[in-house]
Amino acid sequence: VGHIDDVQELRKAKSKIPERFVRDITERPTLATCSSSSSGIPIIDFSKLSKGDFDEVLSELVQLSTACEEWGFFQVINHGIDLSLLEKIEKVTKEFFMLPLAEKQKYPMAPGTVQGYGQAFVFSEDQKLDWCNMFALGVEPQVIRNPKLWPTKPAKFGETVEAYSREVRKLCQSLLKYLAMTLGLKGDVLNEMFGEAVQAIRTNYYPPCSRPDLVLGLSPHSDGSALTVLQERRGSSIGLQILKDDKWVSVQPLPNALVINIGDTLEVLSNGKYKSVEHRAVTHKQKDRLSIVTFYAPSYEIELGPIPELVDENNPCKYRRYNHGEYSKHYVTNKLQGKKTLEFAK
Ligand code: SIN
Ligand code: FE2
Repeated sequence: VGHIDDVQELRKAKSKIPERFVRDITERPTLATCSSSSSGIPIIDFSKLSKGDFDEVLSELVQLSTACEEWGFFQVINHGIDLSLLEKIEKVTKEFFMLPLAEKQKYPMAPGTVQGYGQAFVFSEDQKLDWCNMFALGVEPQVIRNPKLWPTKPAKFGETVEAYSREVRKLCQSLLKYLAMTLGLKGDVLNEMFGEAVQAIRTNYYPPCSRPDLVLGLSPHSDGSALTVLQERRGSSIGLQILKDDKWVSVQPLPNALVINIGDTLEVLSNGKYKSVEHRAVTHKQKDRLSIVTFYAPSYEIELGPIPELVDENNPCKYRRYNHGEYSKHYVTNKLQGKKTLEFAK
């Protein structure tokens, strides 16, 4: 991806939207395909789960379970991560994206990988491009890090990503404990199964677009992770949309809340009880948007499939067993296309 495909540069040059960004009519974000319902995604109060009395915990677990079955998405309030850390990660990522293109291109995303700066999931010349710049890094375990891709500017980028990722990791581990409980399993089952869990961070910058009706910020897809944690920079335009009952529903996070979604891996483990829901991002005419996304997944080493306790006569086994590393490889070497990647598990 040279400067001609870099959406921030296109925005600066005030050029006409290049053909490669103009979606086929059926893919465009028209009003007719969007939901008119204003009810947002479910809200989970994390402090009730972690510190509540018995009744509070129980009622919050029920809501968590319903959210995962019916929405695949929820937002967590009172998650315990310091506001100052949320602000810091927003600050350094915004600063990174505002650097000159040449500085960002010191960390190029190699084709077929999702680490570095550029456009991920692009494999052919005729594929449409997303109105988005990405910068992504593998974070845990240490062996997946590519130190050459950790930027030296802004100076505090690396240490902020580390501090932020540690907190998000704890949140993911807690959520996996509660999710195991909602599935009727012992609290430690999922965390133990995951081994040395893989964690990656991907920051997405969507500059304003003069023709938001023609482009997509991010193509429709489900996530390959087990859990995804999304933070939106304060003041961002609305952008994330999820597919519910065949309509696109816009997600508008509460201030300081984190948006969580179930990825393909948890859909498989739960034998389809919990849904990995298709989502996309749209752009805005005047406002930009920045999202900071953490993917949390099992170790590449592990073999997984539906958890045996969740399979019976009424719930026949929906997915095969496979190696998670192979699935991850499959995911990053295919273009984003709805829930297509999950066919790997069928
Ligand atoms: C994502 O699917 O990675 C997040 C899209 C966004 O809300 O920016
Ligand atoms: Fe996603």
